[in-house]
Amino acid sequence: MTDFAIPRVGAREKVTGTARFGADRTPGGCAYAMPVVATAGKGRITRLDTAGATAVPGVLLVLSHLDDLGIVPAGSLMRGGYAFQSLQPLLDDRIAYRGQPIALVVADTLVAATEAAALVRAEYDEEPIAVELGAAGTETQEAALADVVAGDADGEYERSPLRIDETYEAGPQHQVPMELIGGVVEWHGDTVVVHEGTQTVGALRGGLARQLGIDPAQVRVISPYVGGAFGQKNALQPHLAPLAVAARRLGRPVKLVLPRAHTFHAASFRPLSRHRVRLGADRSGRLLAAIHEVDQQDSRHDLLPATYTELTSRLYDIRNFRGRQRHVRTDTQSPGFMRAPFEHPAAFALESAIDELAVATGRDPVELRLANDARTDPVTGKPFSSRHLADCLRRGAELFGWAGRSPDPCSMQEADGTLVGWGVAVGAYPSKTVPIQARLTADADGRVLLEVGGHEMGQGITTALVSAVAGDLGIAPDSVAVAVGDTARVPHHLTAGAWGTNSTLLAVHAALLRLRERLGAAPDGPVDVAAAVKQAGGDDVVTEAVTQTPGQPPEMADRMRTGLAAPTGPEYPGFVSFSFVAHFAEVRVEPVTRRIRVPRVVSVADCGRVASPVTADAQVRGGVVWGIGAALHEHSEVDPRYGGFVNSDLADYVIPVNADVGTIEVDFIGEPDFALNPMGVKSLGEVALVGVAPAIANAVFHATGRRVRRLPILIEDVL
Ligand code: MOS
Repeated sequence: MTDFAIPRVGAREKVTGTARFGADRTPGGCAYAMPVVATAGKGRITRLDTAGATAVPGVLLVLSHLDDLGIVPAGSLMRGGYAFQSLQPLLDDRIAYRGQPIALVVADTLVAATEAAALVRAEYDEEPIAVELGAAGTETQEAALADVVAGDADGEYERSPLRIDETYEAGPQHQVPMELIGGVVEWHGDTVVVHEGTQTVGALRGGLARQLGIDPAQVRVISPYVGGAFGQKNALQPHLAPLAVAARRLGRPVKLVLPRAHTFHAASFRPLSRHRVRLGADRSGRLLAAIHEVDQQDSRHDLLPATYTELTSRLYDIRNFRGRQRHVRTDTQSPGFMRAPFEHPAAFALESAIDELAVATGRDPVELRLANDARTDPVTGKPFSSRHLADCLRRGAELFGWAGRSPDPCSMQEADGTLVGWGVAVGAYPSKTVPIQARLTADADGRVLLEVGGHEMGQGITTALVSAVAGDLGIAPDSVAVAVGDTARVPHHLTAGAWGTNSTLLAVHAALLRLRERLGAAPDGPVDVAAAVKQAGGDDVVTEAVTQTPGQPPEMADRMRTGLAAPTGPEYPGFVSFSFVAHFAEVRVEPVTRRIRVPRVVSVADCGRVASPVTADAQVRGGVVWGIGAALHEHSEVDPRYGGFVNSDLADYVIPVNADVGTIEVDFIGEPDFALNPMGVKSLGEVALVGVAPAIANAVFHATGRRVRRLPILIEDVL
């Protein structure tokens, strides 16, 4: 496959407003829904008064637990189900967390639905809540799965001449994608059609069918564009089944767009995690042992399997490692996956500790990392499919001008008192692979349609796919069309975990080989598609492929077909596979206000071959912006008296704006990884964020001499 940089597919449609996102659709006769949410932190609803709401002109329905909605819970994504959490609201009087939906108002207009929702009155029998780690009433439990153990970490740590023992904390955070949560539900006879922005049309189909007790063949889910998701839209959400029930009862399409404030409780979030990291090293900084213990916030009703130590156990050549991840149950909706869900906080903890070790040994932080690089996976002893982390560090140092760094904290001051700091940190993210189905249709006009189980959330998967098909066949990109996000075409796997592009490309690669065969073309080189199709009789030539990963049992493809998650990796039969990144950050701390700015970041990634240069570059930039947000801005605030998240809008949940982002320079190692797949492509999306926050925190230490071990870093931390 040839690498060539094509412009982002769909860019024109997006900037000209012709791209139709899920809830952009307004079918004739559409009614509008608005949820009512609990204002108690936990307990039971003792009285629900909907009289005021139903009296509002235009109100059609008020659904609540007082109805029999006939909805069956769809089960949690993590436990063989479809939903972001096991709890389905509106089925009984229990309140598990503030912000949980207690009613759904449907009206002729959005104005009427909104007015009526505000008039629903609820009374509660409230129970004490615990929403913070360490609060009375939380329950802490060990992880169900055995954690990473290699060698004798405790013994080696105790024997180590140099020891670091610190605790770091990050989160909670929310994904806040630009596109709000919601959709449009329409019944056509016995078939229900859902238009909704999602990372998983397959799970929405399978989950809604289970919830309504209908055949999945009666559900079609369409999601051609998604306005950002970042894990928030990786599962069925609780609004969909009640919306479908309302639409069926009314015999009208119903649209719901959640207000931004609702999105802070209507879906998952990144949980708070606290990390005790112990590093044992010799006097030169050679790592001898590490112990990484994590307490992660969870809900009462689900546990999110934590994989922080999957990363920290192999970022370096640490032969003696012990991980331990515990779950702390709190009164909240279930947390879930938010971009680099475990890897971002884990890297903040480990990479801050490594910087502390560099300070303790007096070694340069880049040199210290290079000295501890791993050649094989220290946990399994297997080789890495490819590992160019050292190259990322070396190239990043060169691009950044790291050699000009003066090592001591507070030593790079400007004449006006501005403190300048330079920091470095690295990251990794597993290369996972999922079963994918792809279908290619070539026609006599020389056009090729690719239908594939994937989703375009803005990450650029369609651009990578068009580029792959056009590049392989040697045809113009505009004769290739890609259709993703529609259950009527092919079964779809969840697009998440940075496995989308490498997994879909594998299926496309297989389907392309078959297409070439059917067209009588050689296994590579350009193809005159129009001539070959005519030669073959002139009818459309269709080929299909379903691909899986080596070592993946065949039932994983069945899981994919039913909308269940089926990822494999990072461990494969002959190797382990990760993508890697190194980030270099400059911070400037203003003299009087102590405001921290990030004028420049250099990031170098090893994601194998770069499948789509334009969108890959954008992905890494996006990851760096997320890292700036995580380091300096974003934090979901909880009030232990009330529960829920209190800064639930974009005025108070602070994310970086353009003015907060300086120069970001992105580069790729670009070495293909043919151990993982024949295209040489590893994962990219998520790794971009991993390590940005500690690079900034380490730069803040270098600028100010203050080691801040909790994110986000606030002005008061560096006063
Ligand atoms: Mo991603 S956090 O797996 O959508």
